[in-house]
Amino acid sequence: MKGIRLCGSGAAVPRLRVSNDDLSARVETSDEWIRTRTGIAARRVADESESLTSLAAAAGQQALQNAGWDASSVDLILLATSSPDDLFGSAPKVQALIGAGSAVAFDLTAACSGFLFSLVTAAQYLRTGAMTRALVIGADQLSRWVDWDDRRSCVLFGDGAGAVAIEACPAENDGLLGFRLNSDGARGDCLTLAQTSERAELLPGMSHQRGGYAPIGMNGQEVYKFAVREVPAILKQLLADTNTEAASIDWLLLHQANQRILDAAAERLGIAADKVLSNLANYGNTSAATIPLMLHEAVSDGRIQSGQLIASSGFGAGLSWGAALLRWDGPTS
Ligand code: ACO
Repeated sequence: MKGIRLCGSGAAVPRLRVSNDDLSARVETSDEWIRTRTGIAARRVADESESLTSLAAAAGQQALQNAGWDASSVDLILLATSSPDDLFGSAPKVQALIGAGSAVAFDLTAACSGFLFSLVTAAQYLRTGAMTRALVIGADQLSRWVDWDDRRSCVLFGDGAGAVAIEACPAENDGLLGFRLNSDGARGDCLTLAQTSERAELLPGMSHQRGGYAPIGMNGQEVYKFAVREVPAILKQLLADTNTEAASIDWLLLHQANQRILDAAAERLGIAADKVLSNLANYGNTSAATIPLMLHEAVSDGRIQSGQLIASSGFGAGLSWGAALLRWDGPTS
């Protein structure tokens, strides 16, 4: 079996920044409430000139550039998203925009766990030797599914995209040291973006369901409890699986949902606060985009260095959660 090298990262966020103060002009909330409960200060919202596809393509293109790859060398594009521009899939449009004509491209939906699930999925194609280079993109435009009059949820979410370029390498250089993935549909009702049940007449006496989704539904406290219980647990299991001491982790890279979740997970794992990556303040929860967006930021500003160990966990609707132990490599010079 081959190894996986993490070679390049990229990110793209919408221009429009909506601060907590801006939001308090629409719903009864305050900057103080939002910052204290979540760590979020602002989020980005796509404007008319931007789309899920354009953000994903921009992030993907930057990851290719940073990896030093030609688009034509990519074999696979996996787009993790729960908010495609087209329900038939947005990945092929991203493929065309990037000019990766040889790549097969498809969407993968696993809500906020989507990027992590996609990274692990793409890695399997590379491990077996079936493919050599993959671009894994996490992108979401949840602003179109948020109920902007529901203060309990609208303050949390934002739009964005991030991407990572990975390629097959000799097993001894493997940068995906271990992973675990979980789903529990029985607990999924606490976080939904579900079809509406509206029906329309098909023919006299016959009806069909009219397509359409209700805004995001969320029981915040249930989601919070789920995250602070499962994220440290899965990471502890992963560290045990891979014989890794928590002290040897350079960075904790979690799905950016809430600063209190990040802090609680780090504390339970015994990982120092200065190793916890967070950009919640600027972007809020961008769903499938949070992990690669954060990764790209920390690689770009030099925090994450080649050879460093990253413990990552994605978690969210489904319910779904997963963890991966990664070693960042970067482009070969
Ligand atoms: N501004 C002001 N007051 C608010 C707001 C707001 N934006 N939202 C809720 N409140 C009020 C509530 O109405 C309630 O008032 P009441 O007591 O008069 O009824 C009070 O604040 C407390 O509400 P709680 O829901 O108990 O607040 P809590 O401390 O649980 O914080 C929060 C809510 C921030 C949503 C928290 O539960 C949380 O972060 N949960 C995780 C949810 C999450 O991360 N979802 C993201 C998607 S899933 C994922 O990515 C994992």
